[in-house]
Amino acid sequence: MLTDEQRHALVRWKDLLAESGLERALTRDPDAKPTEIPERFQILARLFHEGLEVEARELAACVPGDVLATLEALGLLKRAADKLESPYRLANHMGLWLFSEKVSPQAKCYYGNDSFELSRMLIGAEGNVLDLCAGVGPQALICARTAKHVTAIEIEPLAARFFWINAALNGLTDKVEFLAGDLLKPVAGRKFDLISCNPPFMPVPPGVPYPVFAGGGGDGLYIVRRLMAGLPEVLAPDGRCEVVGAVLGNAAGPDLAAFKQMAADSSLAIIVDCRTREELEGKTLKQLVGMAMVEGKGEEVERAFRSHFANLNATHLYCFLLHAVRAPSPMVCSSFWDGSGMSFRMEAFP
Ligand SMILES: C[S@@+](CC[C@H](N)C(=O)[O-])C[C@H]1O[C@@H](n2cnc3c(N)ncnc32)[C@H](O)[C@@H]1O
Repeated sequence: MLTDEQRHALVRWKDLLAESGLERALTRDPDAKPTEIPERFQILARLFHEGLEVEARELAACVPGDVLATLEALGLLKRAADKLESPYRLANHMGLWLFSEKVSPQAKCYYGNDSFELSRMLIGAEGNVLDLCAGVGPQALICARTAKHVTAIEIEPLAARFFWINAALNGLTDKVEFLAGDLLKPVAGRKFDLISCNPPFMPVPPGVPYPVFAGGGGDGLYIVRRLMAGLPEVLAPDGRCEVVGAVLGNAAGPDLAAFKQMAADSSLAIIVDCRTREELEGKTLKQLVGMAMVEGKGEEVERAFRSHFANLNATHLYCFLLHAVRAPSPMVCSSFWDGSGMSFRMEAFP
């Protein structure tokens, strides 16, 4: 948690960022057109957009002293002699400012395109919200703008630091709580109107070391399965759950068997909207292999991925947005690209 002085300084920093015109340069929204950044704020673009060092004296002419001191005290700016640089990434996330780690093999906190995809499903959130696998807070903070209260749960200790900085930066500290822990364990016995989750969801062969933010077990559904199993306990009667993830399949479509089992076991209606379909070759395979936490063993790891996917008869990876609600009779509705067009399916179970 931060002191009152630090929180006030961060809100002033946010106001300065809003004035700077940097918002569009730092957003992930592909439709955003960069706006003109006034001359006196160009130094902020060099620091946070281009990732360059800047003269401390020059920055002091643009940023008030107490704000600068807070950014340094929180480690958000790093000083070397008379230069300052940002060790972290600053992004504009649908109007919110977010600090997170820069992308690197050592990074422990994640913020990516799927963070954005899921956040879009949460606009206008109401009531009590639970954000699982919260990371640096993109979904929790989007919800906190409109919801009554947001509880965020995250297992990685470093994320808490970013989460509280980001909550303060956006003036949302009073609306959120952060609980360190494993998935639903910290909220046993509580109910929520909206539950969101961006879990680690990459399918990874057993024995291949993988970042905690990315590895979703053999089929990528390890956390999703646990979440759906626990959902009836934590979802309010009219509540909904929104998840982003990925499922294996072949050229004709995703393998929906796991979702059918989850729906039947927990009496849920599960809607799986597949948004992309990638062959488990070329760039996609390279990305999966590249995230493994091993050095100099690329070929061995690639072989492990290939034989793992062959054993599962999987040739494609489908990224999805999943919606789940309670249902008197369990069902799975799906949409996906089957190679020639969009396919829509609905299966209900007795
Ligand atoms: C893909 S990242 C998503 C982070 C953030 N919600 C976002 O969208 O940018 C997955 C996050 O889940 C966290 N995580 C992994 N296993 C977890 C668990 N069992 N309980 C809670 N959090 C977990 C990771 O540390 C990581 O921050």
